[in-house]
Amino acid sequence: MEKTLVILKPDAVQRRLLGKIISRFEEKGFQIVGLKMMQISESLARKHYASHEGKDFFEPLIRYTTSAPVIVMVLKGKNSIEIIRKMMGATFGSKAEPGTIRGDYAVSNRFNLIHGSDSPASAEKEIGIFFKEEEVFEYNPIDIPWVYDTSHGDIV
Ligand code: RTP
Ligand code: MG
Repeated sequence: MEKTLVILKPDAVQRRLLGKIISRFEEKGFQIVGLKMMQISESLARKHYASHEGKDFFEPLIRYTTSAPVIVMVLKGKNSIEIIRKMMGATFGSKAEPGTIRGDYAVSNRFNLIHGSDSPASAEKEIGIFFKEEEVFEYNPIDIPWVYDTSHGDIV
C-alpha cells in the first residue's frame, strides 16, 4: 500500500470542484488518510516546486499556488502514485484526455486544478513537507476486502 500527496489547487477551491474531485478518488477505492485546508506560503511553494526553479513559468506558478487556499490530502492505495497521476491527466488542461480530472474540468495550461506526487521518493518528501506525523492516520477501511481481493493473503 502506497501513500501519495495530492493538492487541490486554488482554482479547484475557487471553482467549487472539491467535492467532485475528492469523490473520484473515494469512488476509485483510495483511502483518505490525511486532509486539510491551508494557504501555501511563498516559501513553501518555492520549496515544493524547487525542481522548476529557473524555468519561465516558475514565478507565475508560485503566484498561482499561493493565490488562494488549497486542500492537501494524503491518499493511500495499491499503486496510488501511478494511478492518481493517470486520473489527473496530462499537465496542460488543453491536452488532457476527457475522462481525466484535468481533461474534464480544465482548459488552461497553468490553472490545472490538481497536483499529485510523481514518484515514491517525491511522495515521501512531499508528505513530510505538508503533514505532521500525527496528521496522517492509520485506520482499517471496512471495505478493503471488497476493493481488493485479499482472500489469499496478498492484495490483488
Ligand atoms: P504538478 O507538479 O502540479 O502535479 O503538475 P505536473 O507534474 O503535471 O507538471 P509539472 O511539469 O511538474 O509542472 C508543475 C505545474 O506548473 C504549471 N506549469 N505551467 N508552461 C507553463 O506555463 C507551465 N508548465 C507547467 C502547472 O500548474 C503544472 O501543474
Ligand atoms: Mg510535477
